[in-house]
Amino acid sequence: MARPGITRRILLWYAHHGRSLPWRQTRDPYAVWISEVMLQQTRVDTAIPYYERFLSRFPTVEALAKAPLRNVIKSWENMGYYSRARNLHEAARTIVTCMGGSLPENREELLRLPGIGAYTASAILSFAFGQSVLAMDANVKRVLCRLFAVKQPLEDRPTLETIERLGKDLLPLKDSSSFNQGLMDFGSSICTPRKPRCTACFLRDDCLAFQRSIQYSLPVKRSRPPLPHRDMTAALIRDQRGRFLVAQRPANGLLGGLWRFPGGERTGAETVAEAVERAVCEEAGVRARAVSELGVIRHAFTHFRMRLHVFECMITEGLPRALGCVRLRWAGPRALRSLPFGKADRKVLSLL
Ligand code: ADE
Repeated sequence: MARPGITRRILLWYAHHGRSLPWRQTRDPYAVWISEVMLQQTRVDTAIPYYERFLSRFPTVEALAKAPLRNVIKSWENMGYYSRARNLHEAARTIVTCMGGSLPENREELLRLPGIGAYTASAILSFAFGQSVLAMDANVKRVLCRLFAVKQPLEDRPTLETIERLGKDLLPLKDSSSFNQGLMDFGSSICTPRKPRCTACFLRDDCLAFQRSIQYSLPVKRSRPPLPHRDMTAALIRDQRGRFLVAQRPANGLLGGLWRFPGGERTGAETVAEAVERAVCEEAGVRARAVSELGVIRHAFTHFRMRLHVFECMITEGLPRALGCVRLRWAGPRALRSLPFGKADRKVLSLL
């Protein structure tokens, strides 16, 4: 059932209160695509400087396709979820070589590109190509869930289909882009996850969750088991020139292609010191002694939490060679700055 009042109020509110964000100043499909990929797992405020830097380094899809992957990953450093950068690069190459150099204007072809799922395809179709499409990010899903008092968990496919149907009924004939982005801004400033500001809400009279006083308990979440803990180790090994031994991770896998300090997971009954000595041996083919523990860095990935025990280590026998990693090298201050490292490994450096 269409509710023109709701749609109109969202568009009006967005016209006055919508955020002025850099990717909203353009309809260039390439720029919209880059912003949407960044925003898949990164908050708006964090994404802004990355977006601006990325577009000045790689202003077009051709520039991105031509760039070495290493530079693309470097531009992503600290944003996490690096497969997004690898997918962007691969998709740019596909667009240039197989799609005539422009992002396709239809869903099927967009979905064939790596890193573009249903939401990102919808966002590109709506924001760049002006198609009348609903783009449901987390904010939009939550807002719709409350407006219509949907009590089933959003993780369930039938619930999402219900919400999508309800949302589509609200889409305006023109300017789906302002409608979608209006819902996003409304969700991030008024209909917020934990404490929705219902007293300031211009949709209060339309909101079934508010009418039933269940807005704080929606959306219903499926309970998830807590993330497991893993003890990992990192070895800081210096050569006579003060450079550090660093290892490149395999291209596919956690933080693929990025650099890190040698180390690995503690297993069984070994101590973290024993674990780092073993890991250095397996990875770099040398015997090493853990001289002192410099600190512990905590970091959460999607599937586990990590305590990274950082040790200063000394090689006691052998010359390093890449056994359990793609490449090994000694890195001085300049290389340490220019090689891409994951967030936790960057923090390792700050312990020095
Ligand atoms: N999240 C995803 N896309 C967005 C956009 N265009 N504006 C604000 N937040 C977003």
